[in-house]
Amino acid sequence: MKPQSTHFKQVASEYDELAANGLYATLAPNNKGGRKSEYVNAVFDAAILPRLPETGVCGCALDFGCGTGSFTRVLAQHCSQVIGVDVSEHMIATATQVCEGYAHVRLLQIDGESLPFENASFDHVIARESLCYVPDDMLGGVLEEIYRVLKPGGRFLWLEQVSTNPFWQVHPGAPNLVKRDPRVLRDELAQRGFKLLEQSMVRAPRFPWIYPLWFGLLPRRLIPALARWEVAWHRRFDQHPRRWWDALFIAERPRP
Ligand SMILES: C[S@@+](CC[C@H](N)C(=O)[O-])C[C@H]1O[C@@H](n2cnc3c(N)ncnc32)[C@H](O)[C@@H]1O
Repeated sequence: MKPQSTHFKQVASEYDELAANGLYATLAPNNKGGRKSEYVNAVFDAAILPRLPETGVCGCALDFGCGTGSFTRVLAQHCSQVIGVDVSEHMIATATQVCEGYAHVRLLQIDGESLPFENASFDHVIARESLCYVPDDMLGGVLEEIYRVLKPGGRFLWLEQVSTNPFWQVHPGAPNLVKRDPRVLRDELAQRGFKLLEQSMVRAPRFPWIYPLWFGLLPRRLIPALARWEVAWHRRFDQHPRRWWDALFIAERPRP
């Protein structure tokens, strides 16, 4: 289903263009899918994967705003069924190639305002830096949809750029994106009926080894290990930068 609102049409067109930059096109868009984007992707994998159950009990997962499908493909190795949705047609086309060979993966172009799934369909919903593109007046509705399609006891893993500084919450270079205050995210979750299980810091911009990695001074093969170290560092010290950071919220749809 093509996006209906002007806002979502703009987001779709922005990401349609980025799809040309390959598997790591979406995270750190200015890096055009280069080493920095690959590293950010690895940090997000390192934050989320240990929070999912073992292969075999991961069940059915929805990847909301799946982008190129880089994480959808990882989910496919853990879960019995995976659905990736994205507002961008070109992202869905890329994800379809990336997930080729995984018969239990389905990919759909939708804008998330309403999700075309039965109530209580998913064990997990994952949204990695996608709901920051949903404007304030639509966020509640999208979260209600995510709640509706989760099974009771199912988990919502929401990884998001956040900021407590109004100056950094919106940026002229990325007019469709908003970095909300973590308190806003917690309030939104509570209002929709979610129970917050955990909140942790995942990534800080300008973490020391991002520049040597970016400029090729550190070998690419170190990316997964460096990504795991960064996640472990933030979980241990949880020191928020003044500008913005990435945080992971894990929430549950409570059982009746
Ligand atoms: C920063 S990228 C992240 C992609 C992917 N989650 C990842 O981790 O690589 C954000 C993605 O969310 C998608 N998106 C933004 N708003 C959306 C909406 N309302 N419905 C579906 N997808 C959306 C964009 O098209 C884009 O592919």
